[in-house]
Amino acid sequence: MTQQSITPARFISFEGIDGAGKSTHIGFVAAFLRLRGVTLVTTREPGGTALGEKLRDLLLHEKMHLETEALLMFASRREHIAQVIAPALQRGEWVISDRFTDASFAYQGGGRGLDRGKMEALEQWVHPALQPDLTLLFDVPLEVARARLDATRSPDKFEQEQADFFSATREEYLRRAAQFPQRFRVIDSTQSIAAIEGQLAAILHAVLAVSAPGH
Ligand code: TYD
Repeated sequence: MTQQSITPARFISFEGIDGAGKSTHIGFVAAFLRLRGVTLVTTREPGGTALGEKLRDLLLHEKMHLETEALLMFASRREHIAQVIAPALQRGEWVISDRFTDASFAYQGGGRGLDRGKMEALEQWVHPALQPDLTLLFDVPLEVARARLDATRSPDKFEQEQADFFSATREEYLRRAAQFPQRFRVIDSTQSIAAIEGQLAAILHAVLAVSAPGH
């Protein structure tokens, strides 16, 4: 039997270019919320399901046509929503996803130049009514992101991209943050981890305050 959250379910996505530091902060956010009685699921894209993880392996390591890449990202997402995200939200649990559709707009749209209209069509098809309630965008200049990439493992297909790819990806993320200011919070990820955690705590307190029963 699943325990009910004390607050209505919320869907939170984490975004940013490779090396922006989002992965470091997912654990902090999950622990912060659990300590306050929130039942939650942490997951990731591409991936999050058995099939999605197979697609992730292809997406991160195989060369493919740009539209194939976009379609597979959304195929993985379709499965992820059906198997993980929607059921968790229906059970009253929060969902924290390491990336969601903003990543497709930023990477396939911004970075690779796929027509935004095609992406919007896929978004309309795959999740016409679902959007994150909160998107945390970890933003850093390219040089900082590059320096942070884990030098101990070989870079995947995306991490091997050049500076102009990441600058277009970052620009698209920031454009979307400006387009959807209600759900986006942009975190200056050049700050210390402690400073970022302080900022995240303030954001989460505000989310919990509006989620509290009786508000
Ligand atoms: P990432 O989330 O950075 O994981 P890790 O920290 O393990 O490297 O890797 C996922 C990669 O997939 C990342 O480079 C961005 C890319 N991506 C897209 O291009 N489009 C998408 O829609 C999603 C979800 C991810």
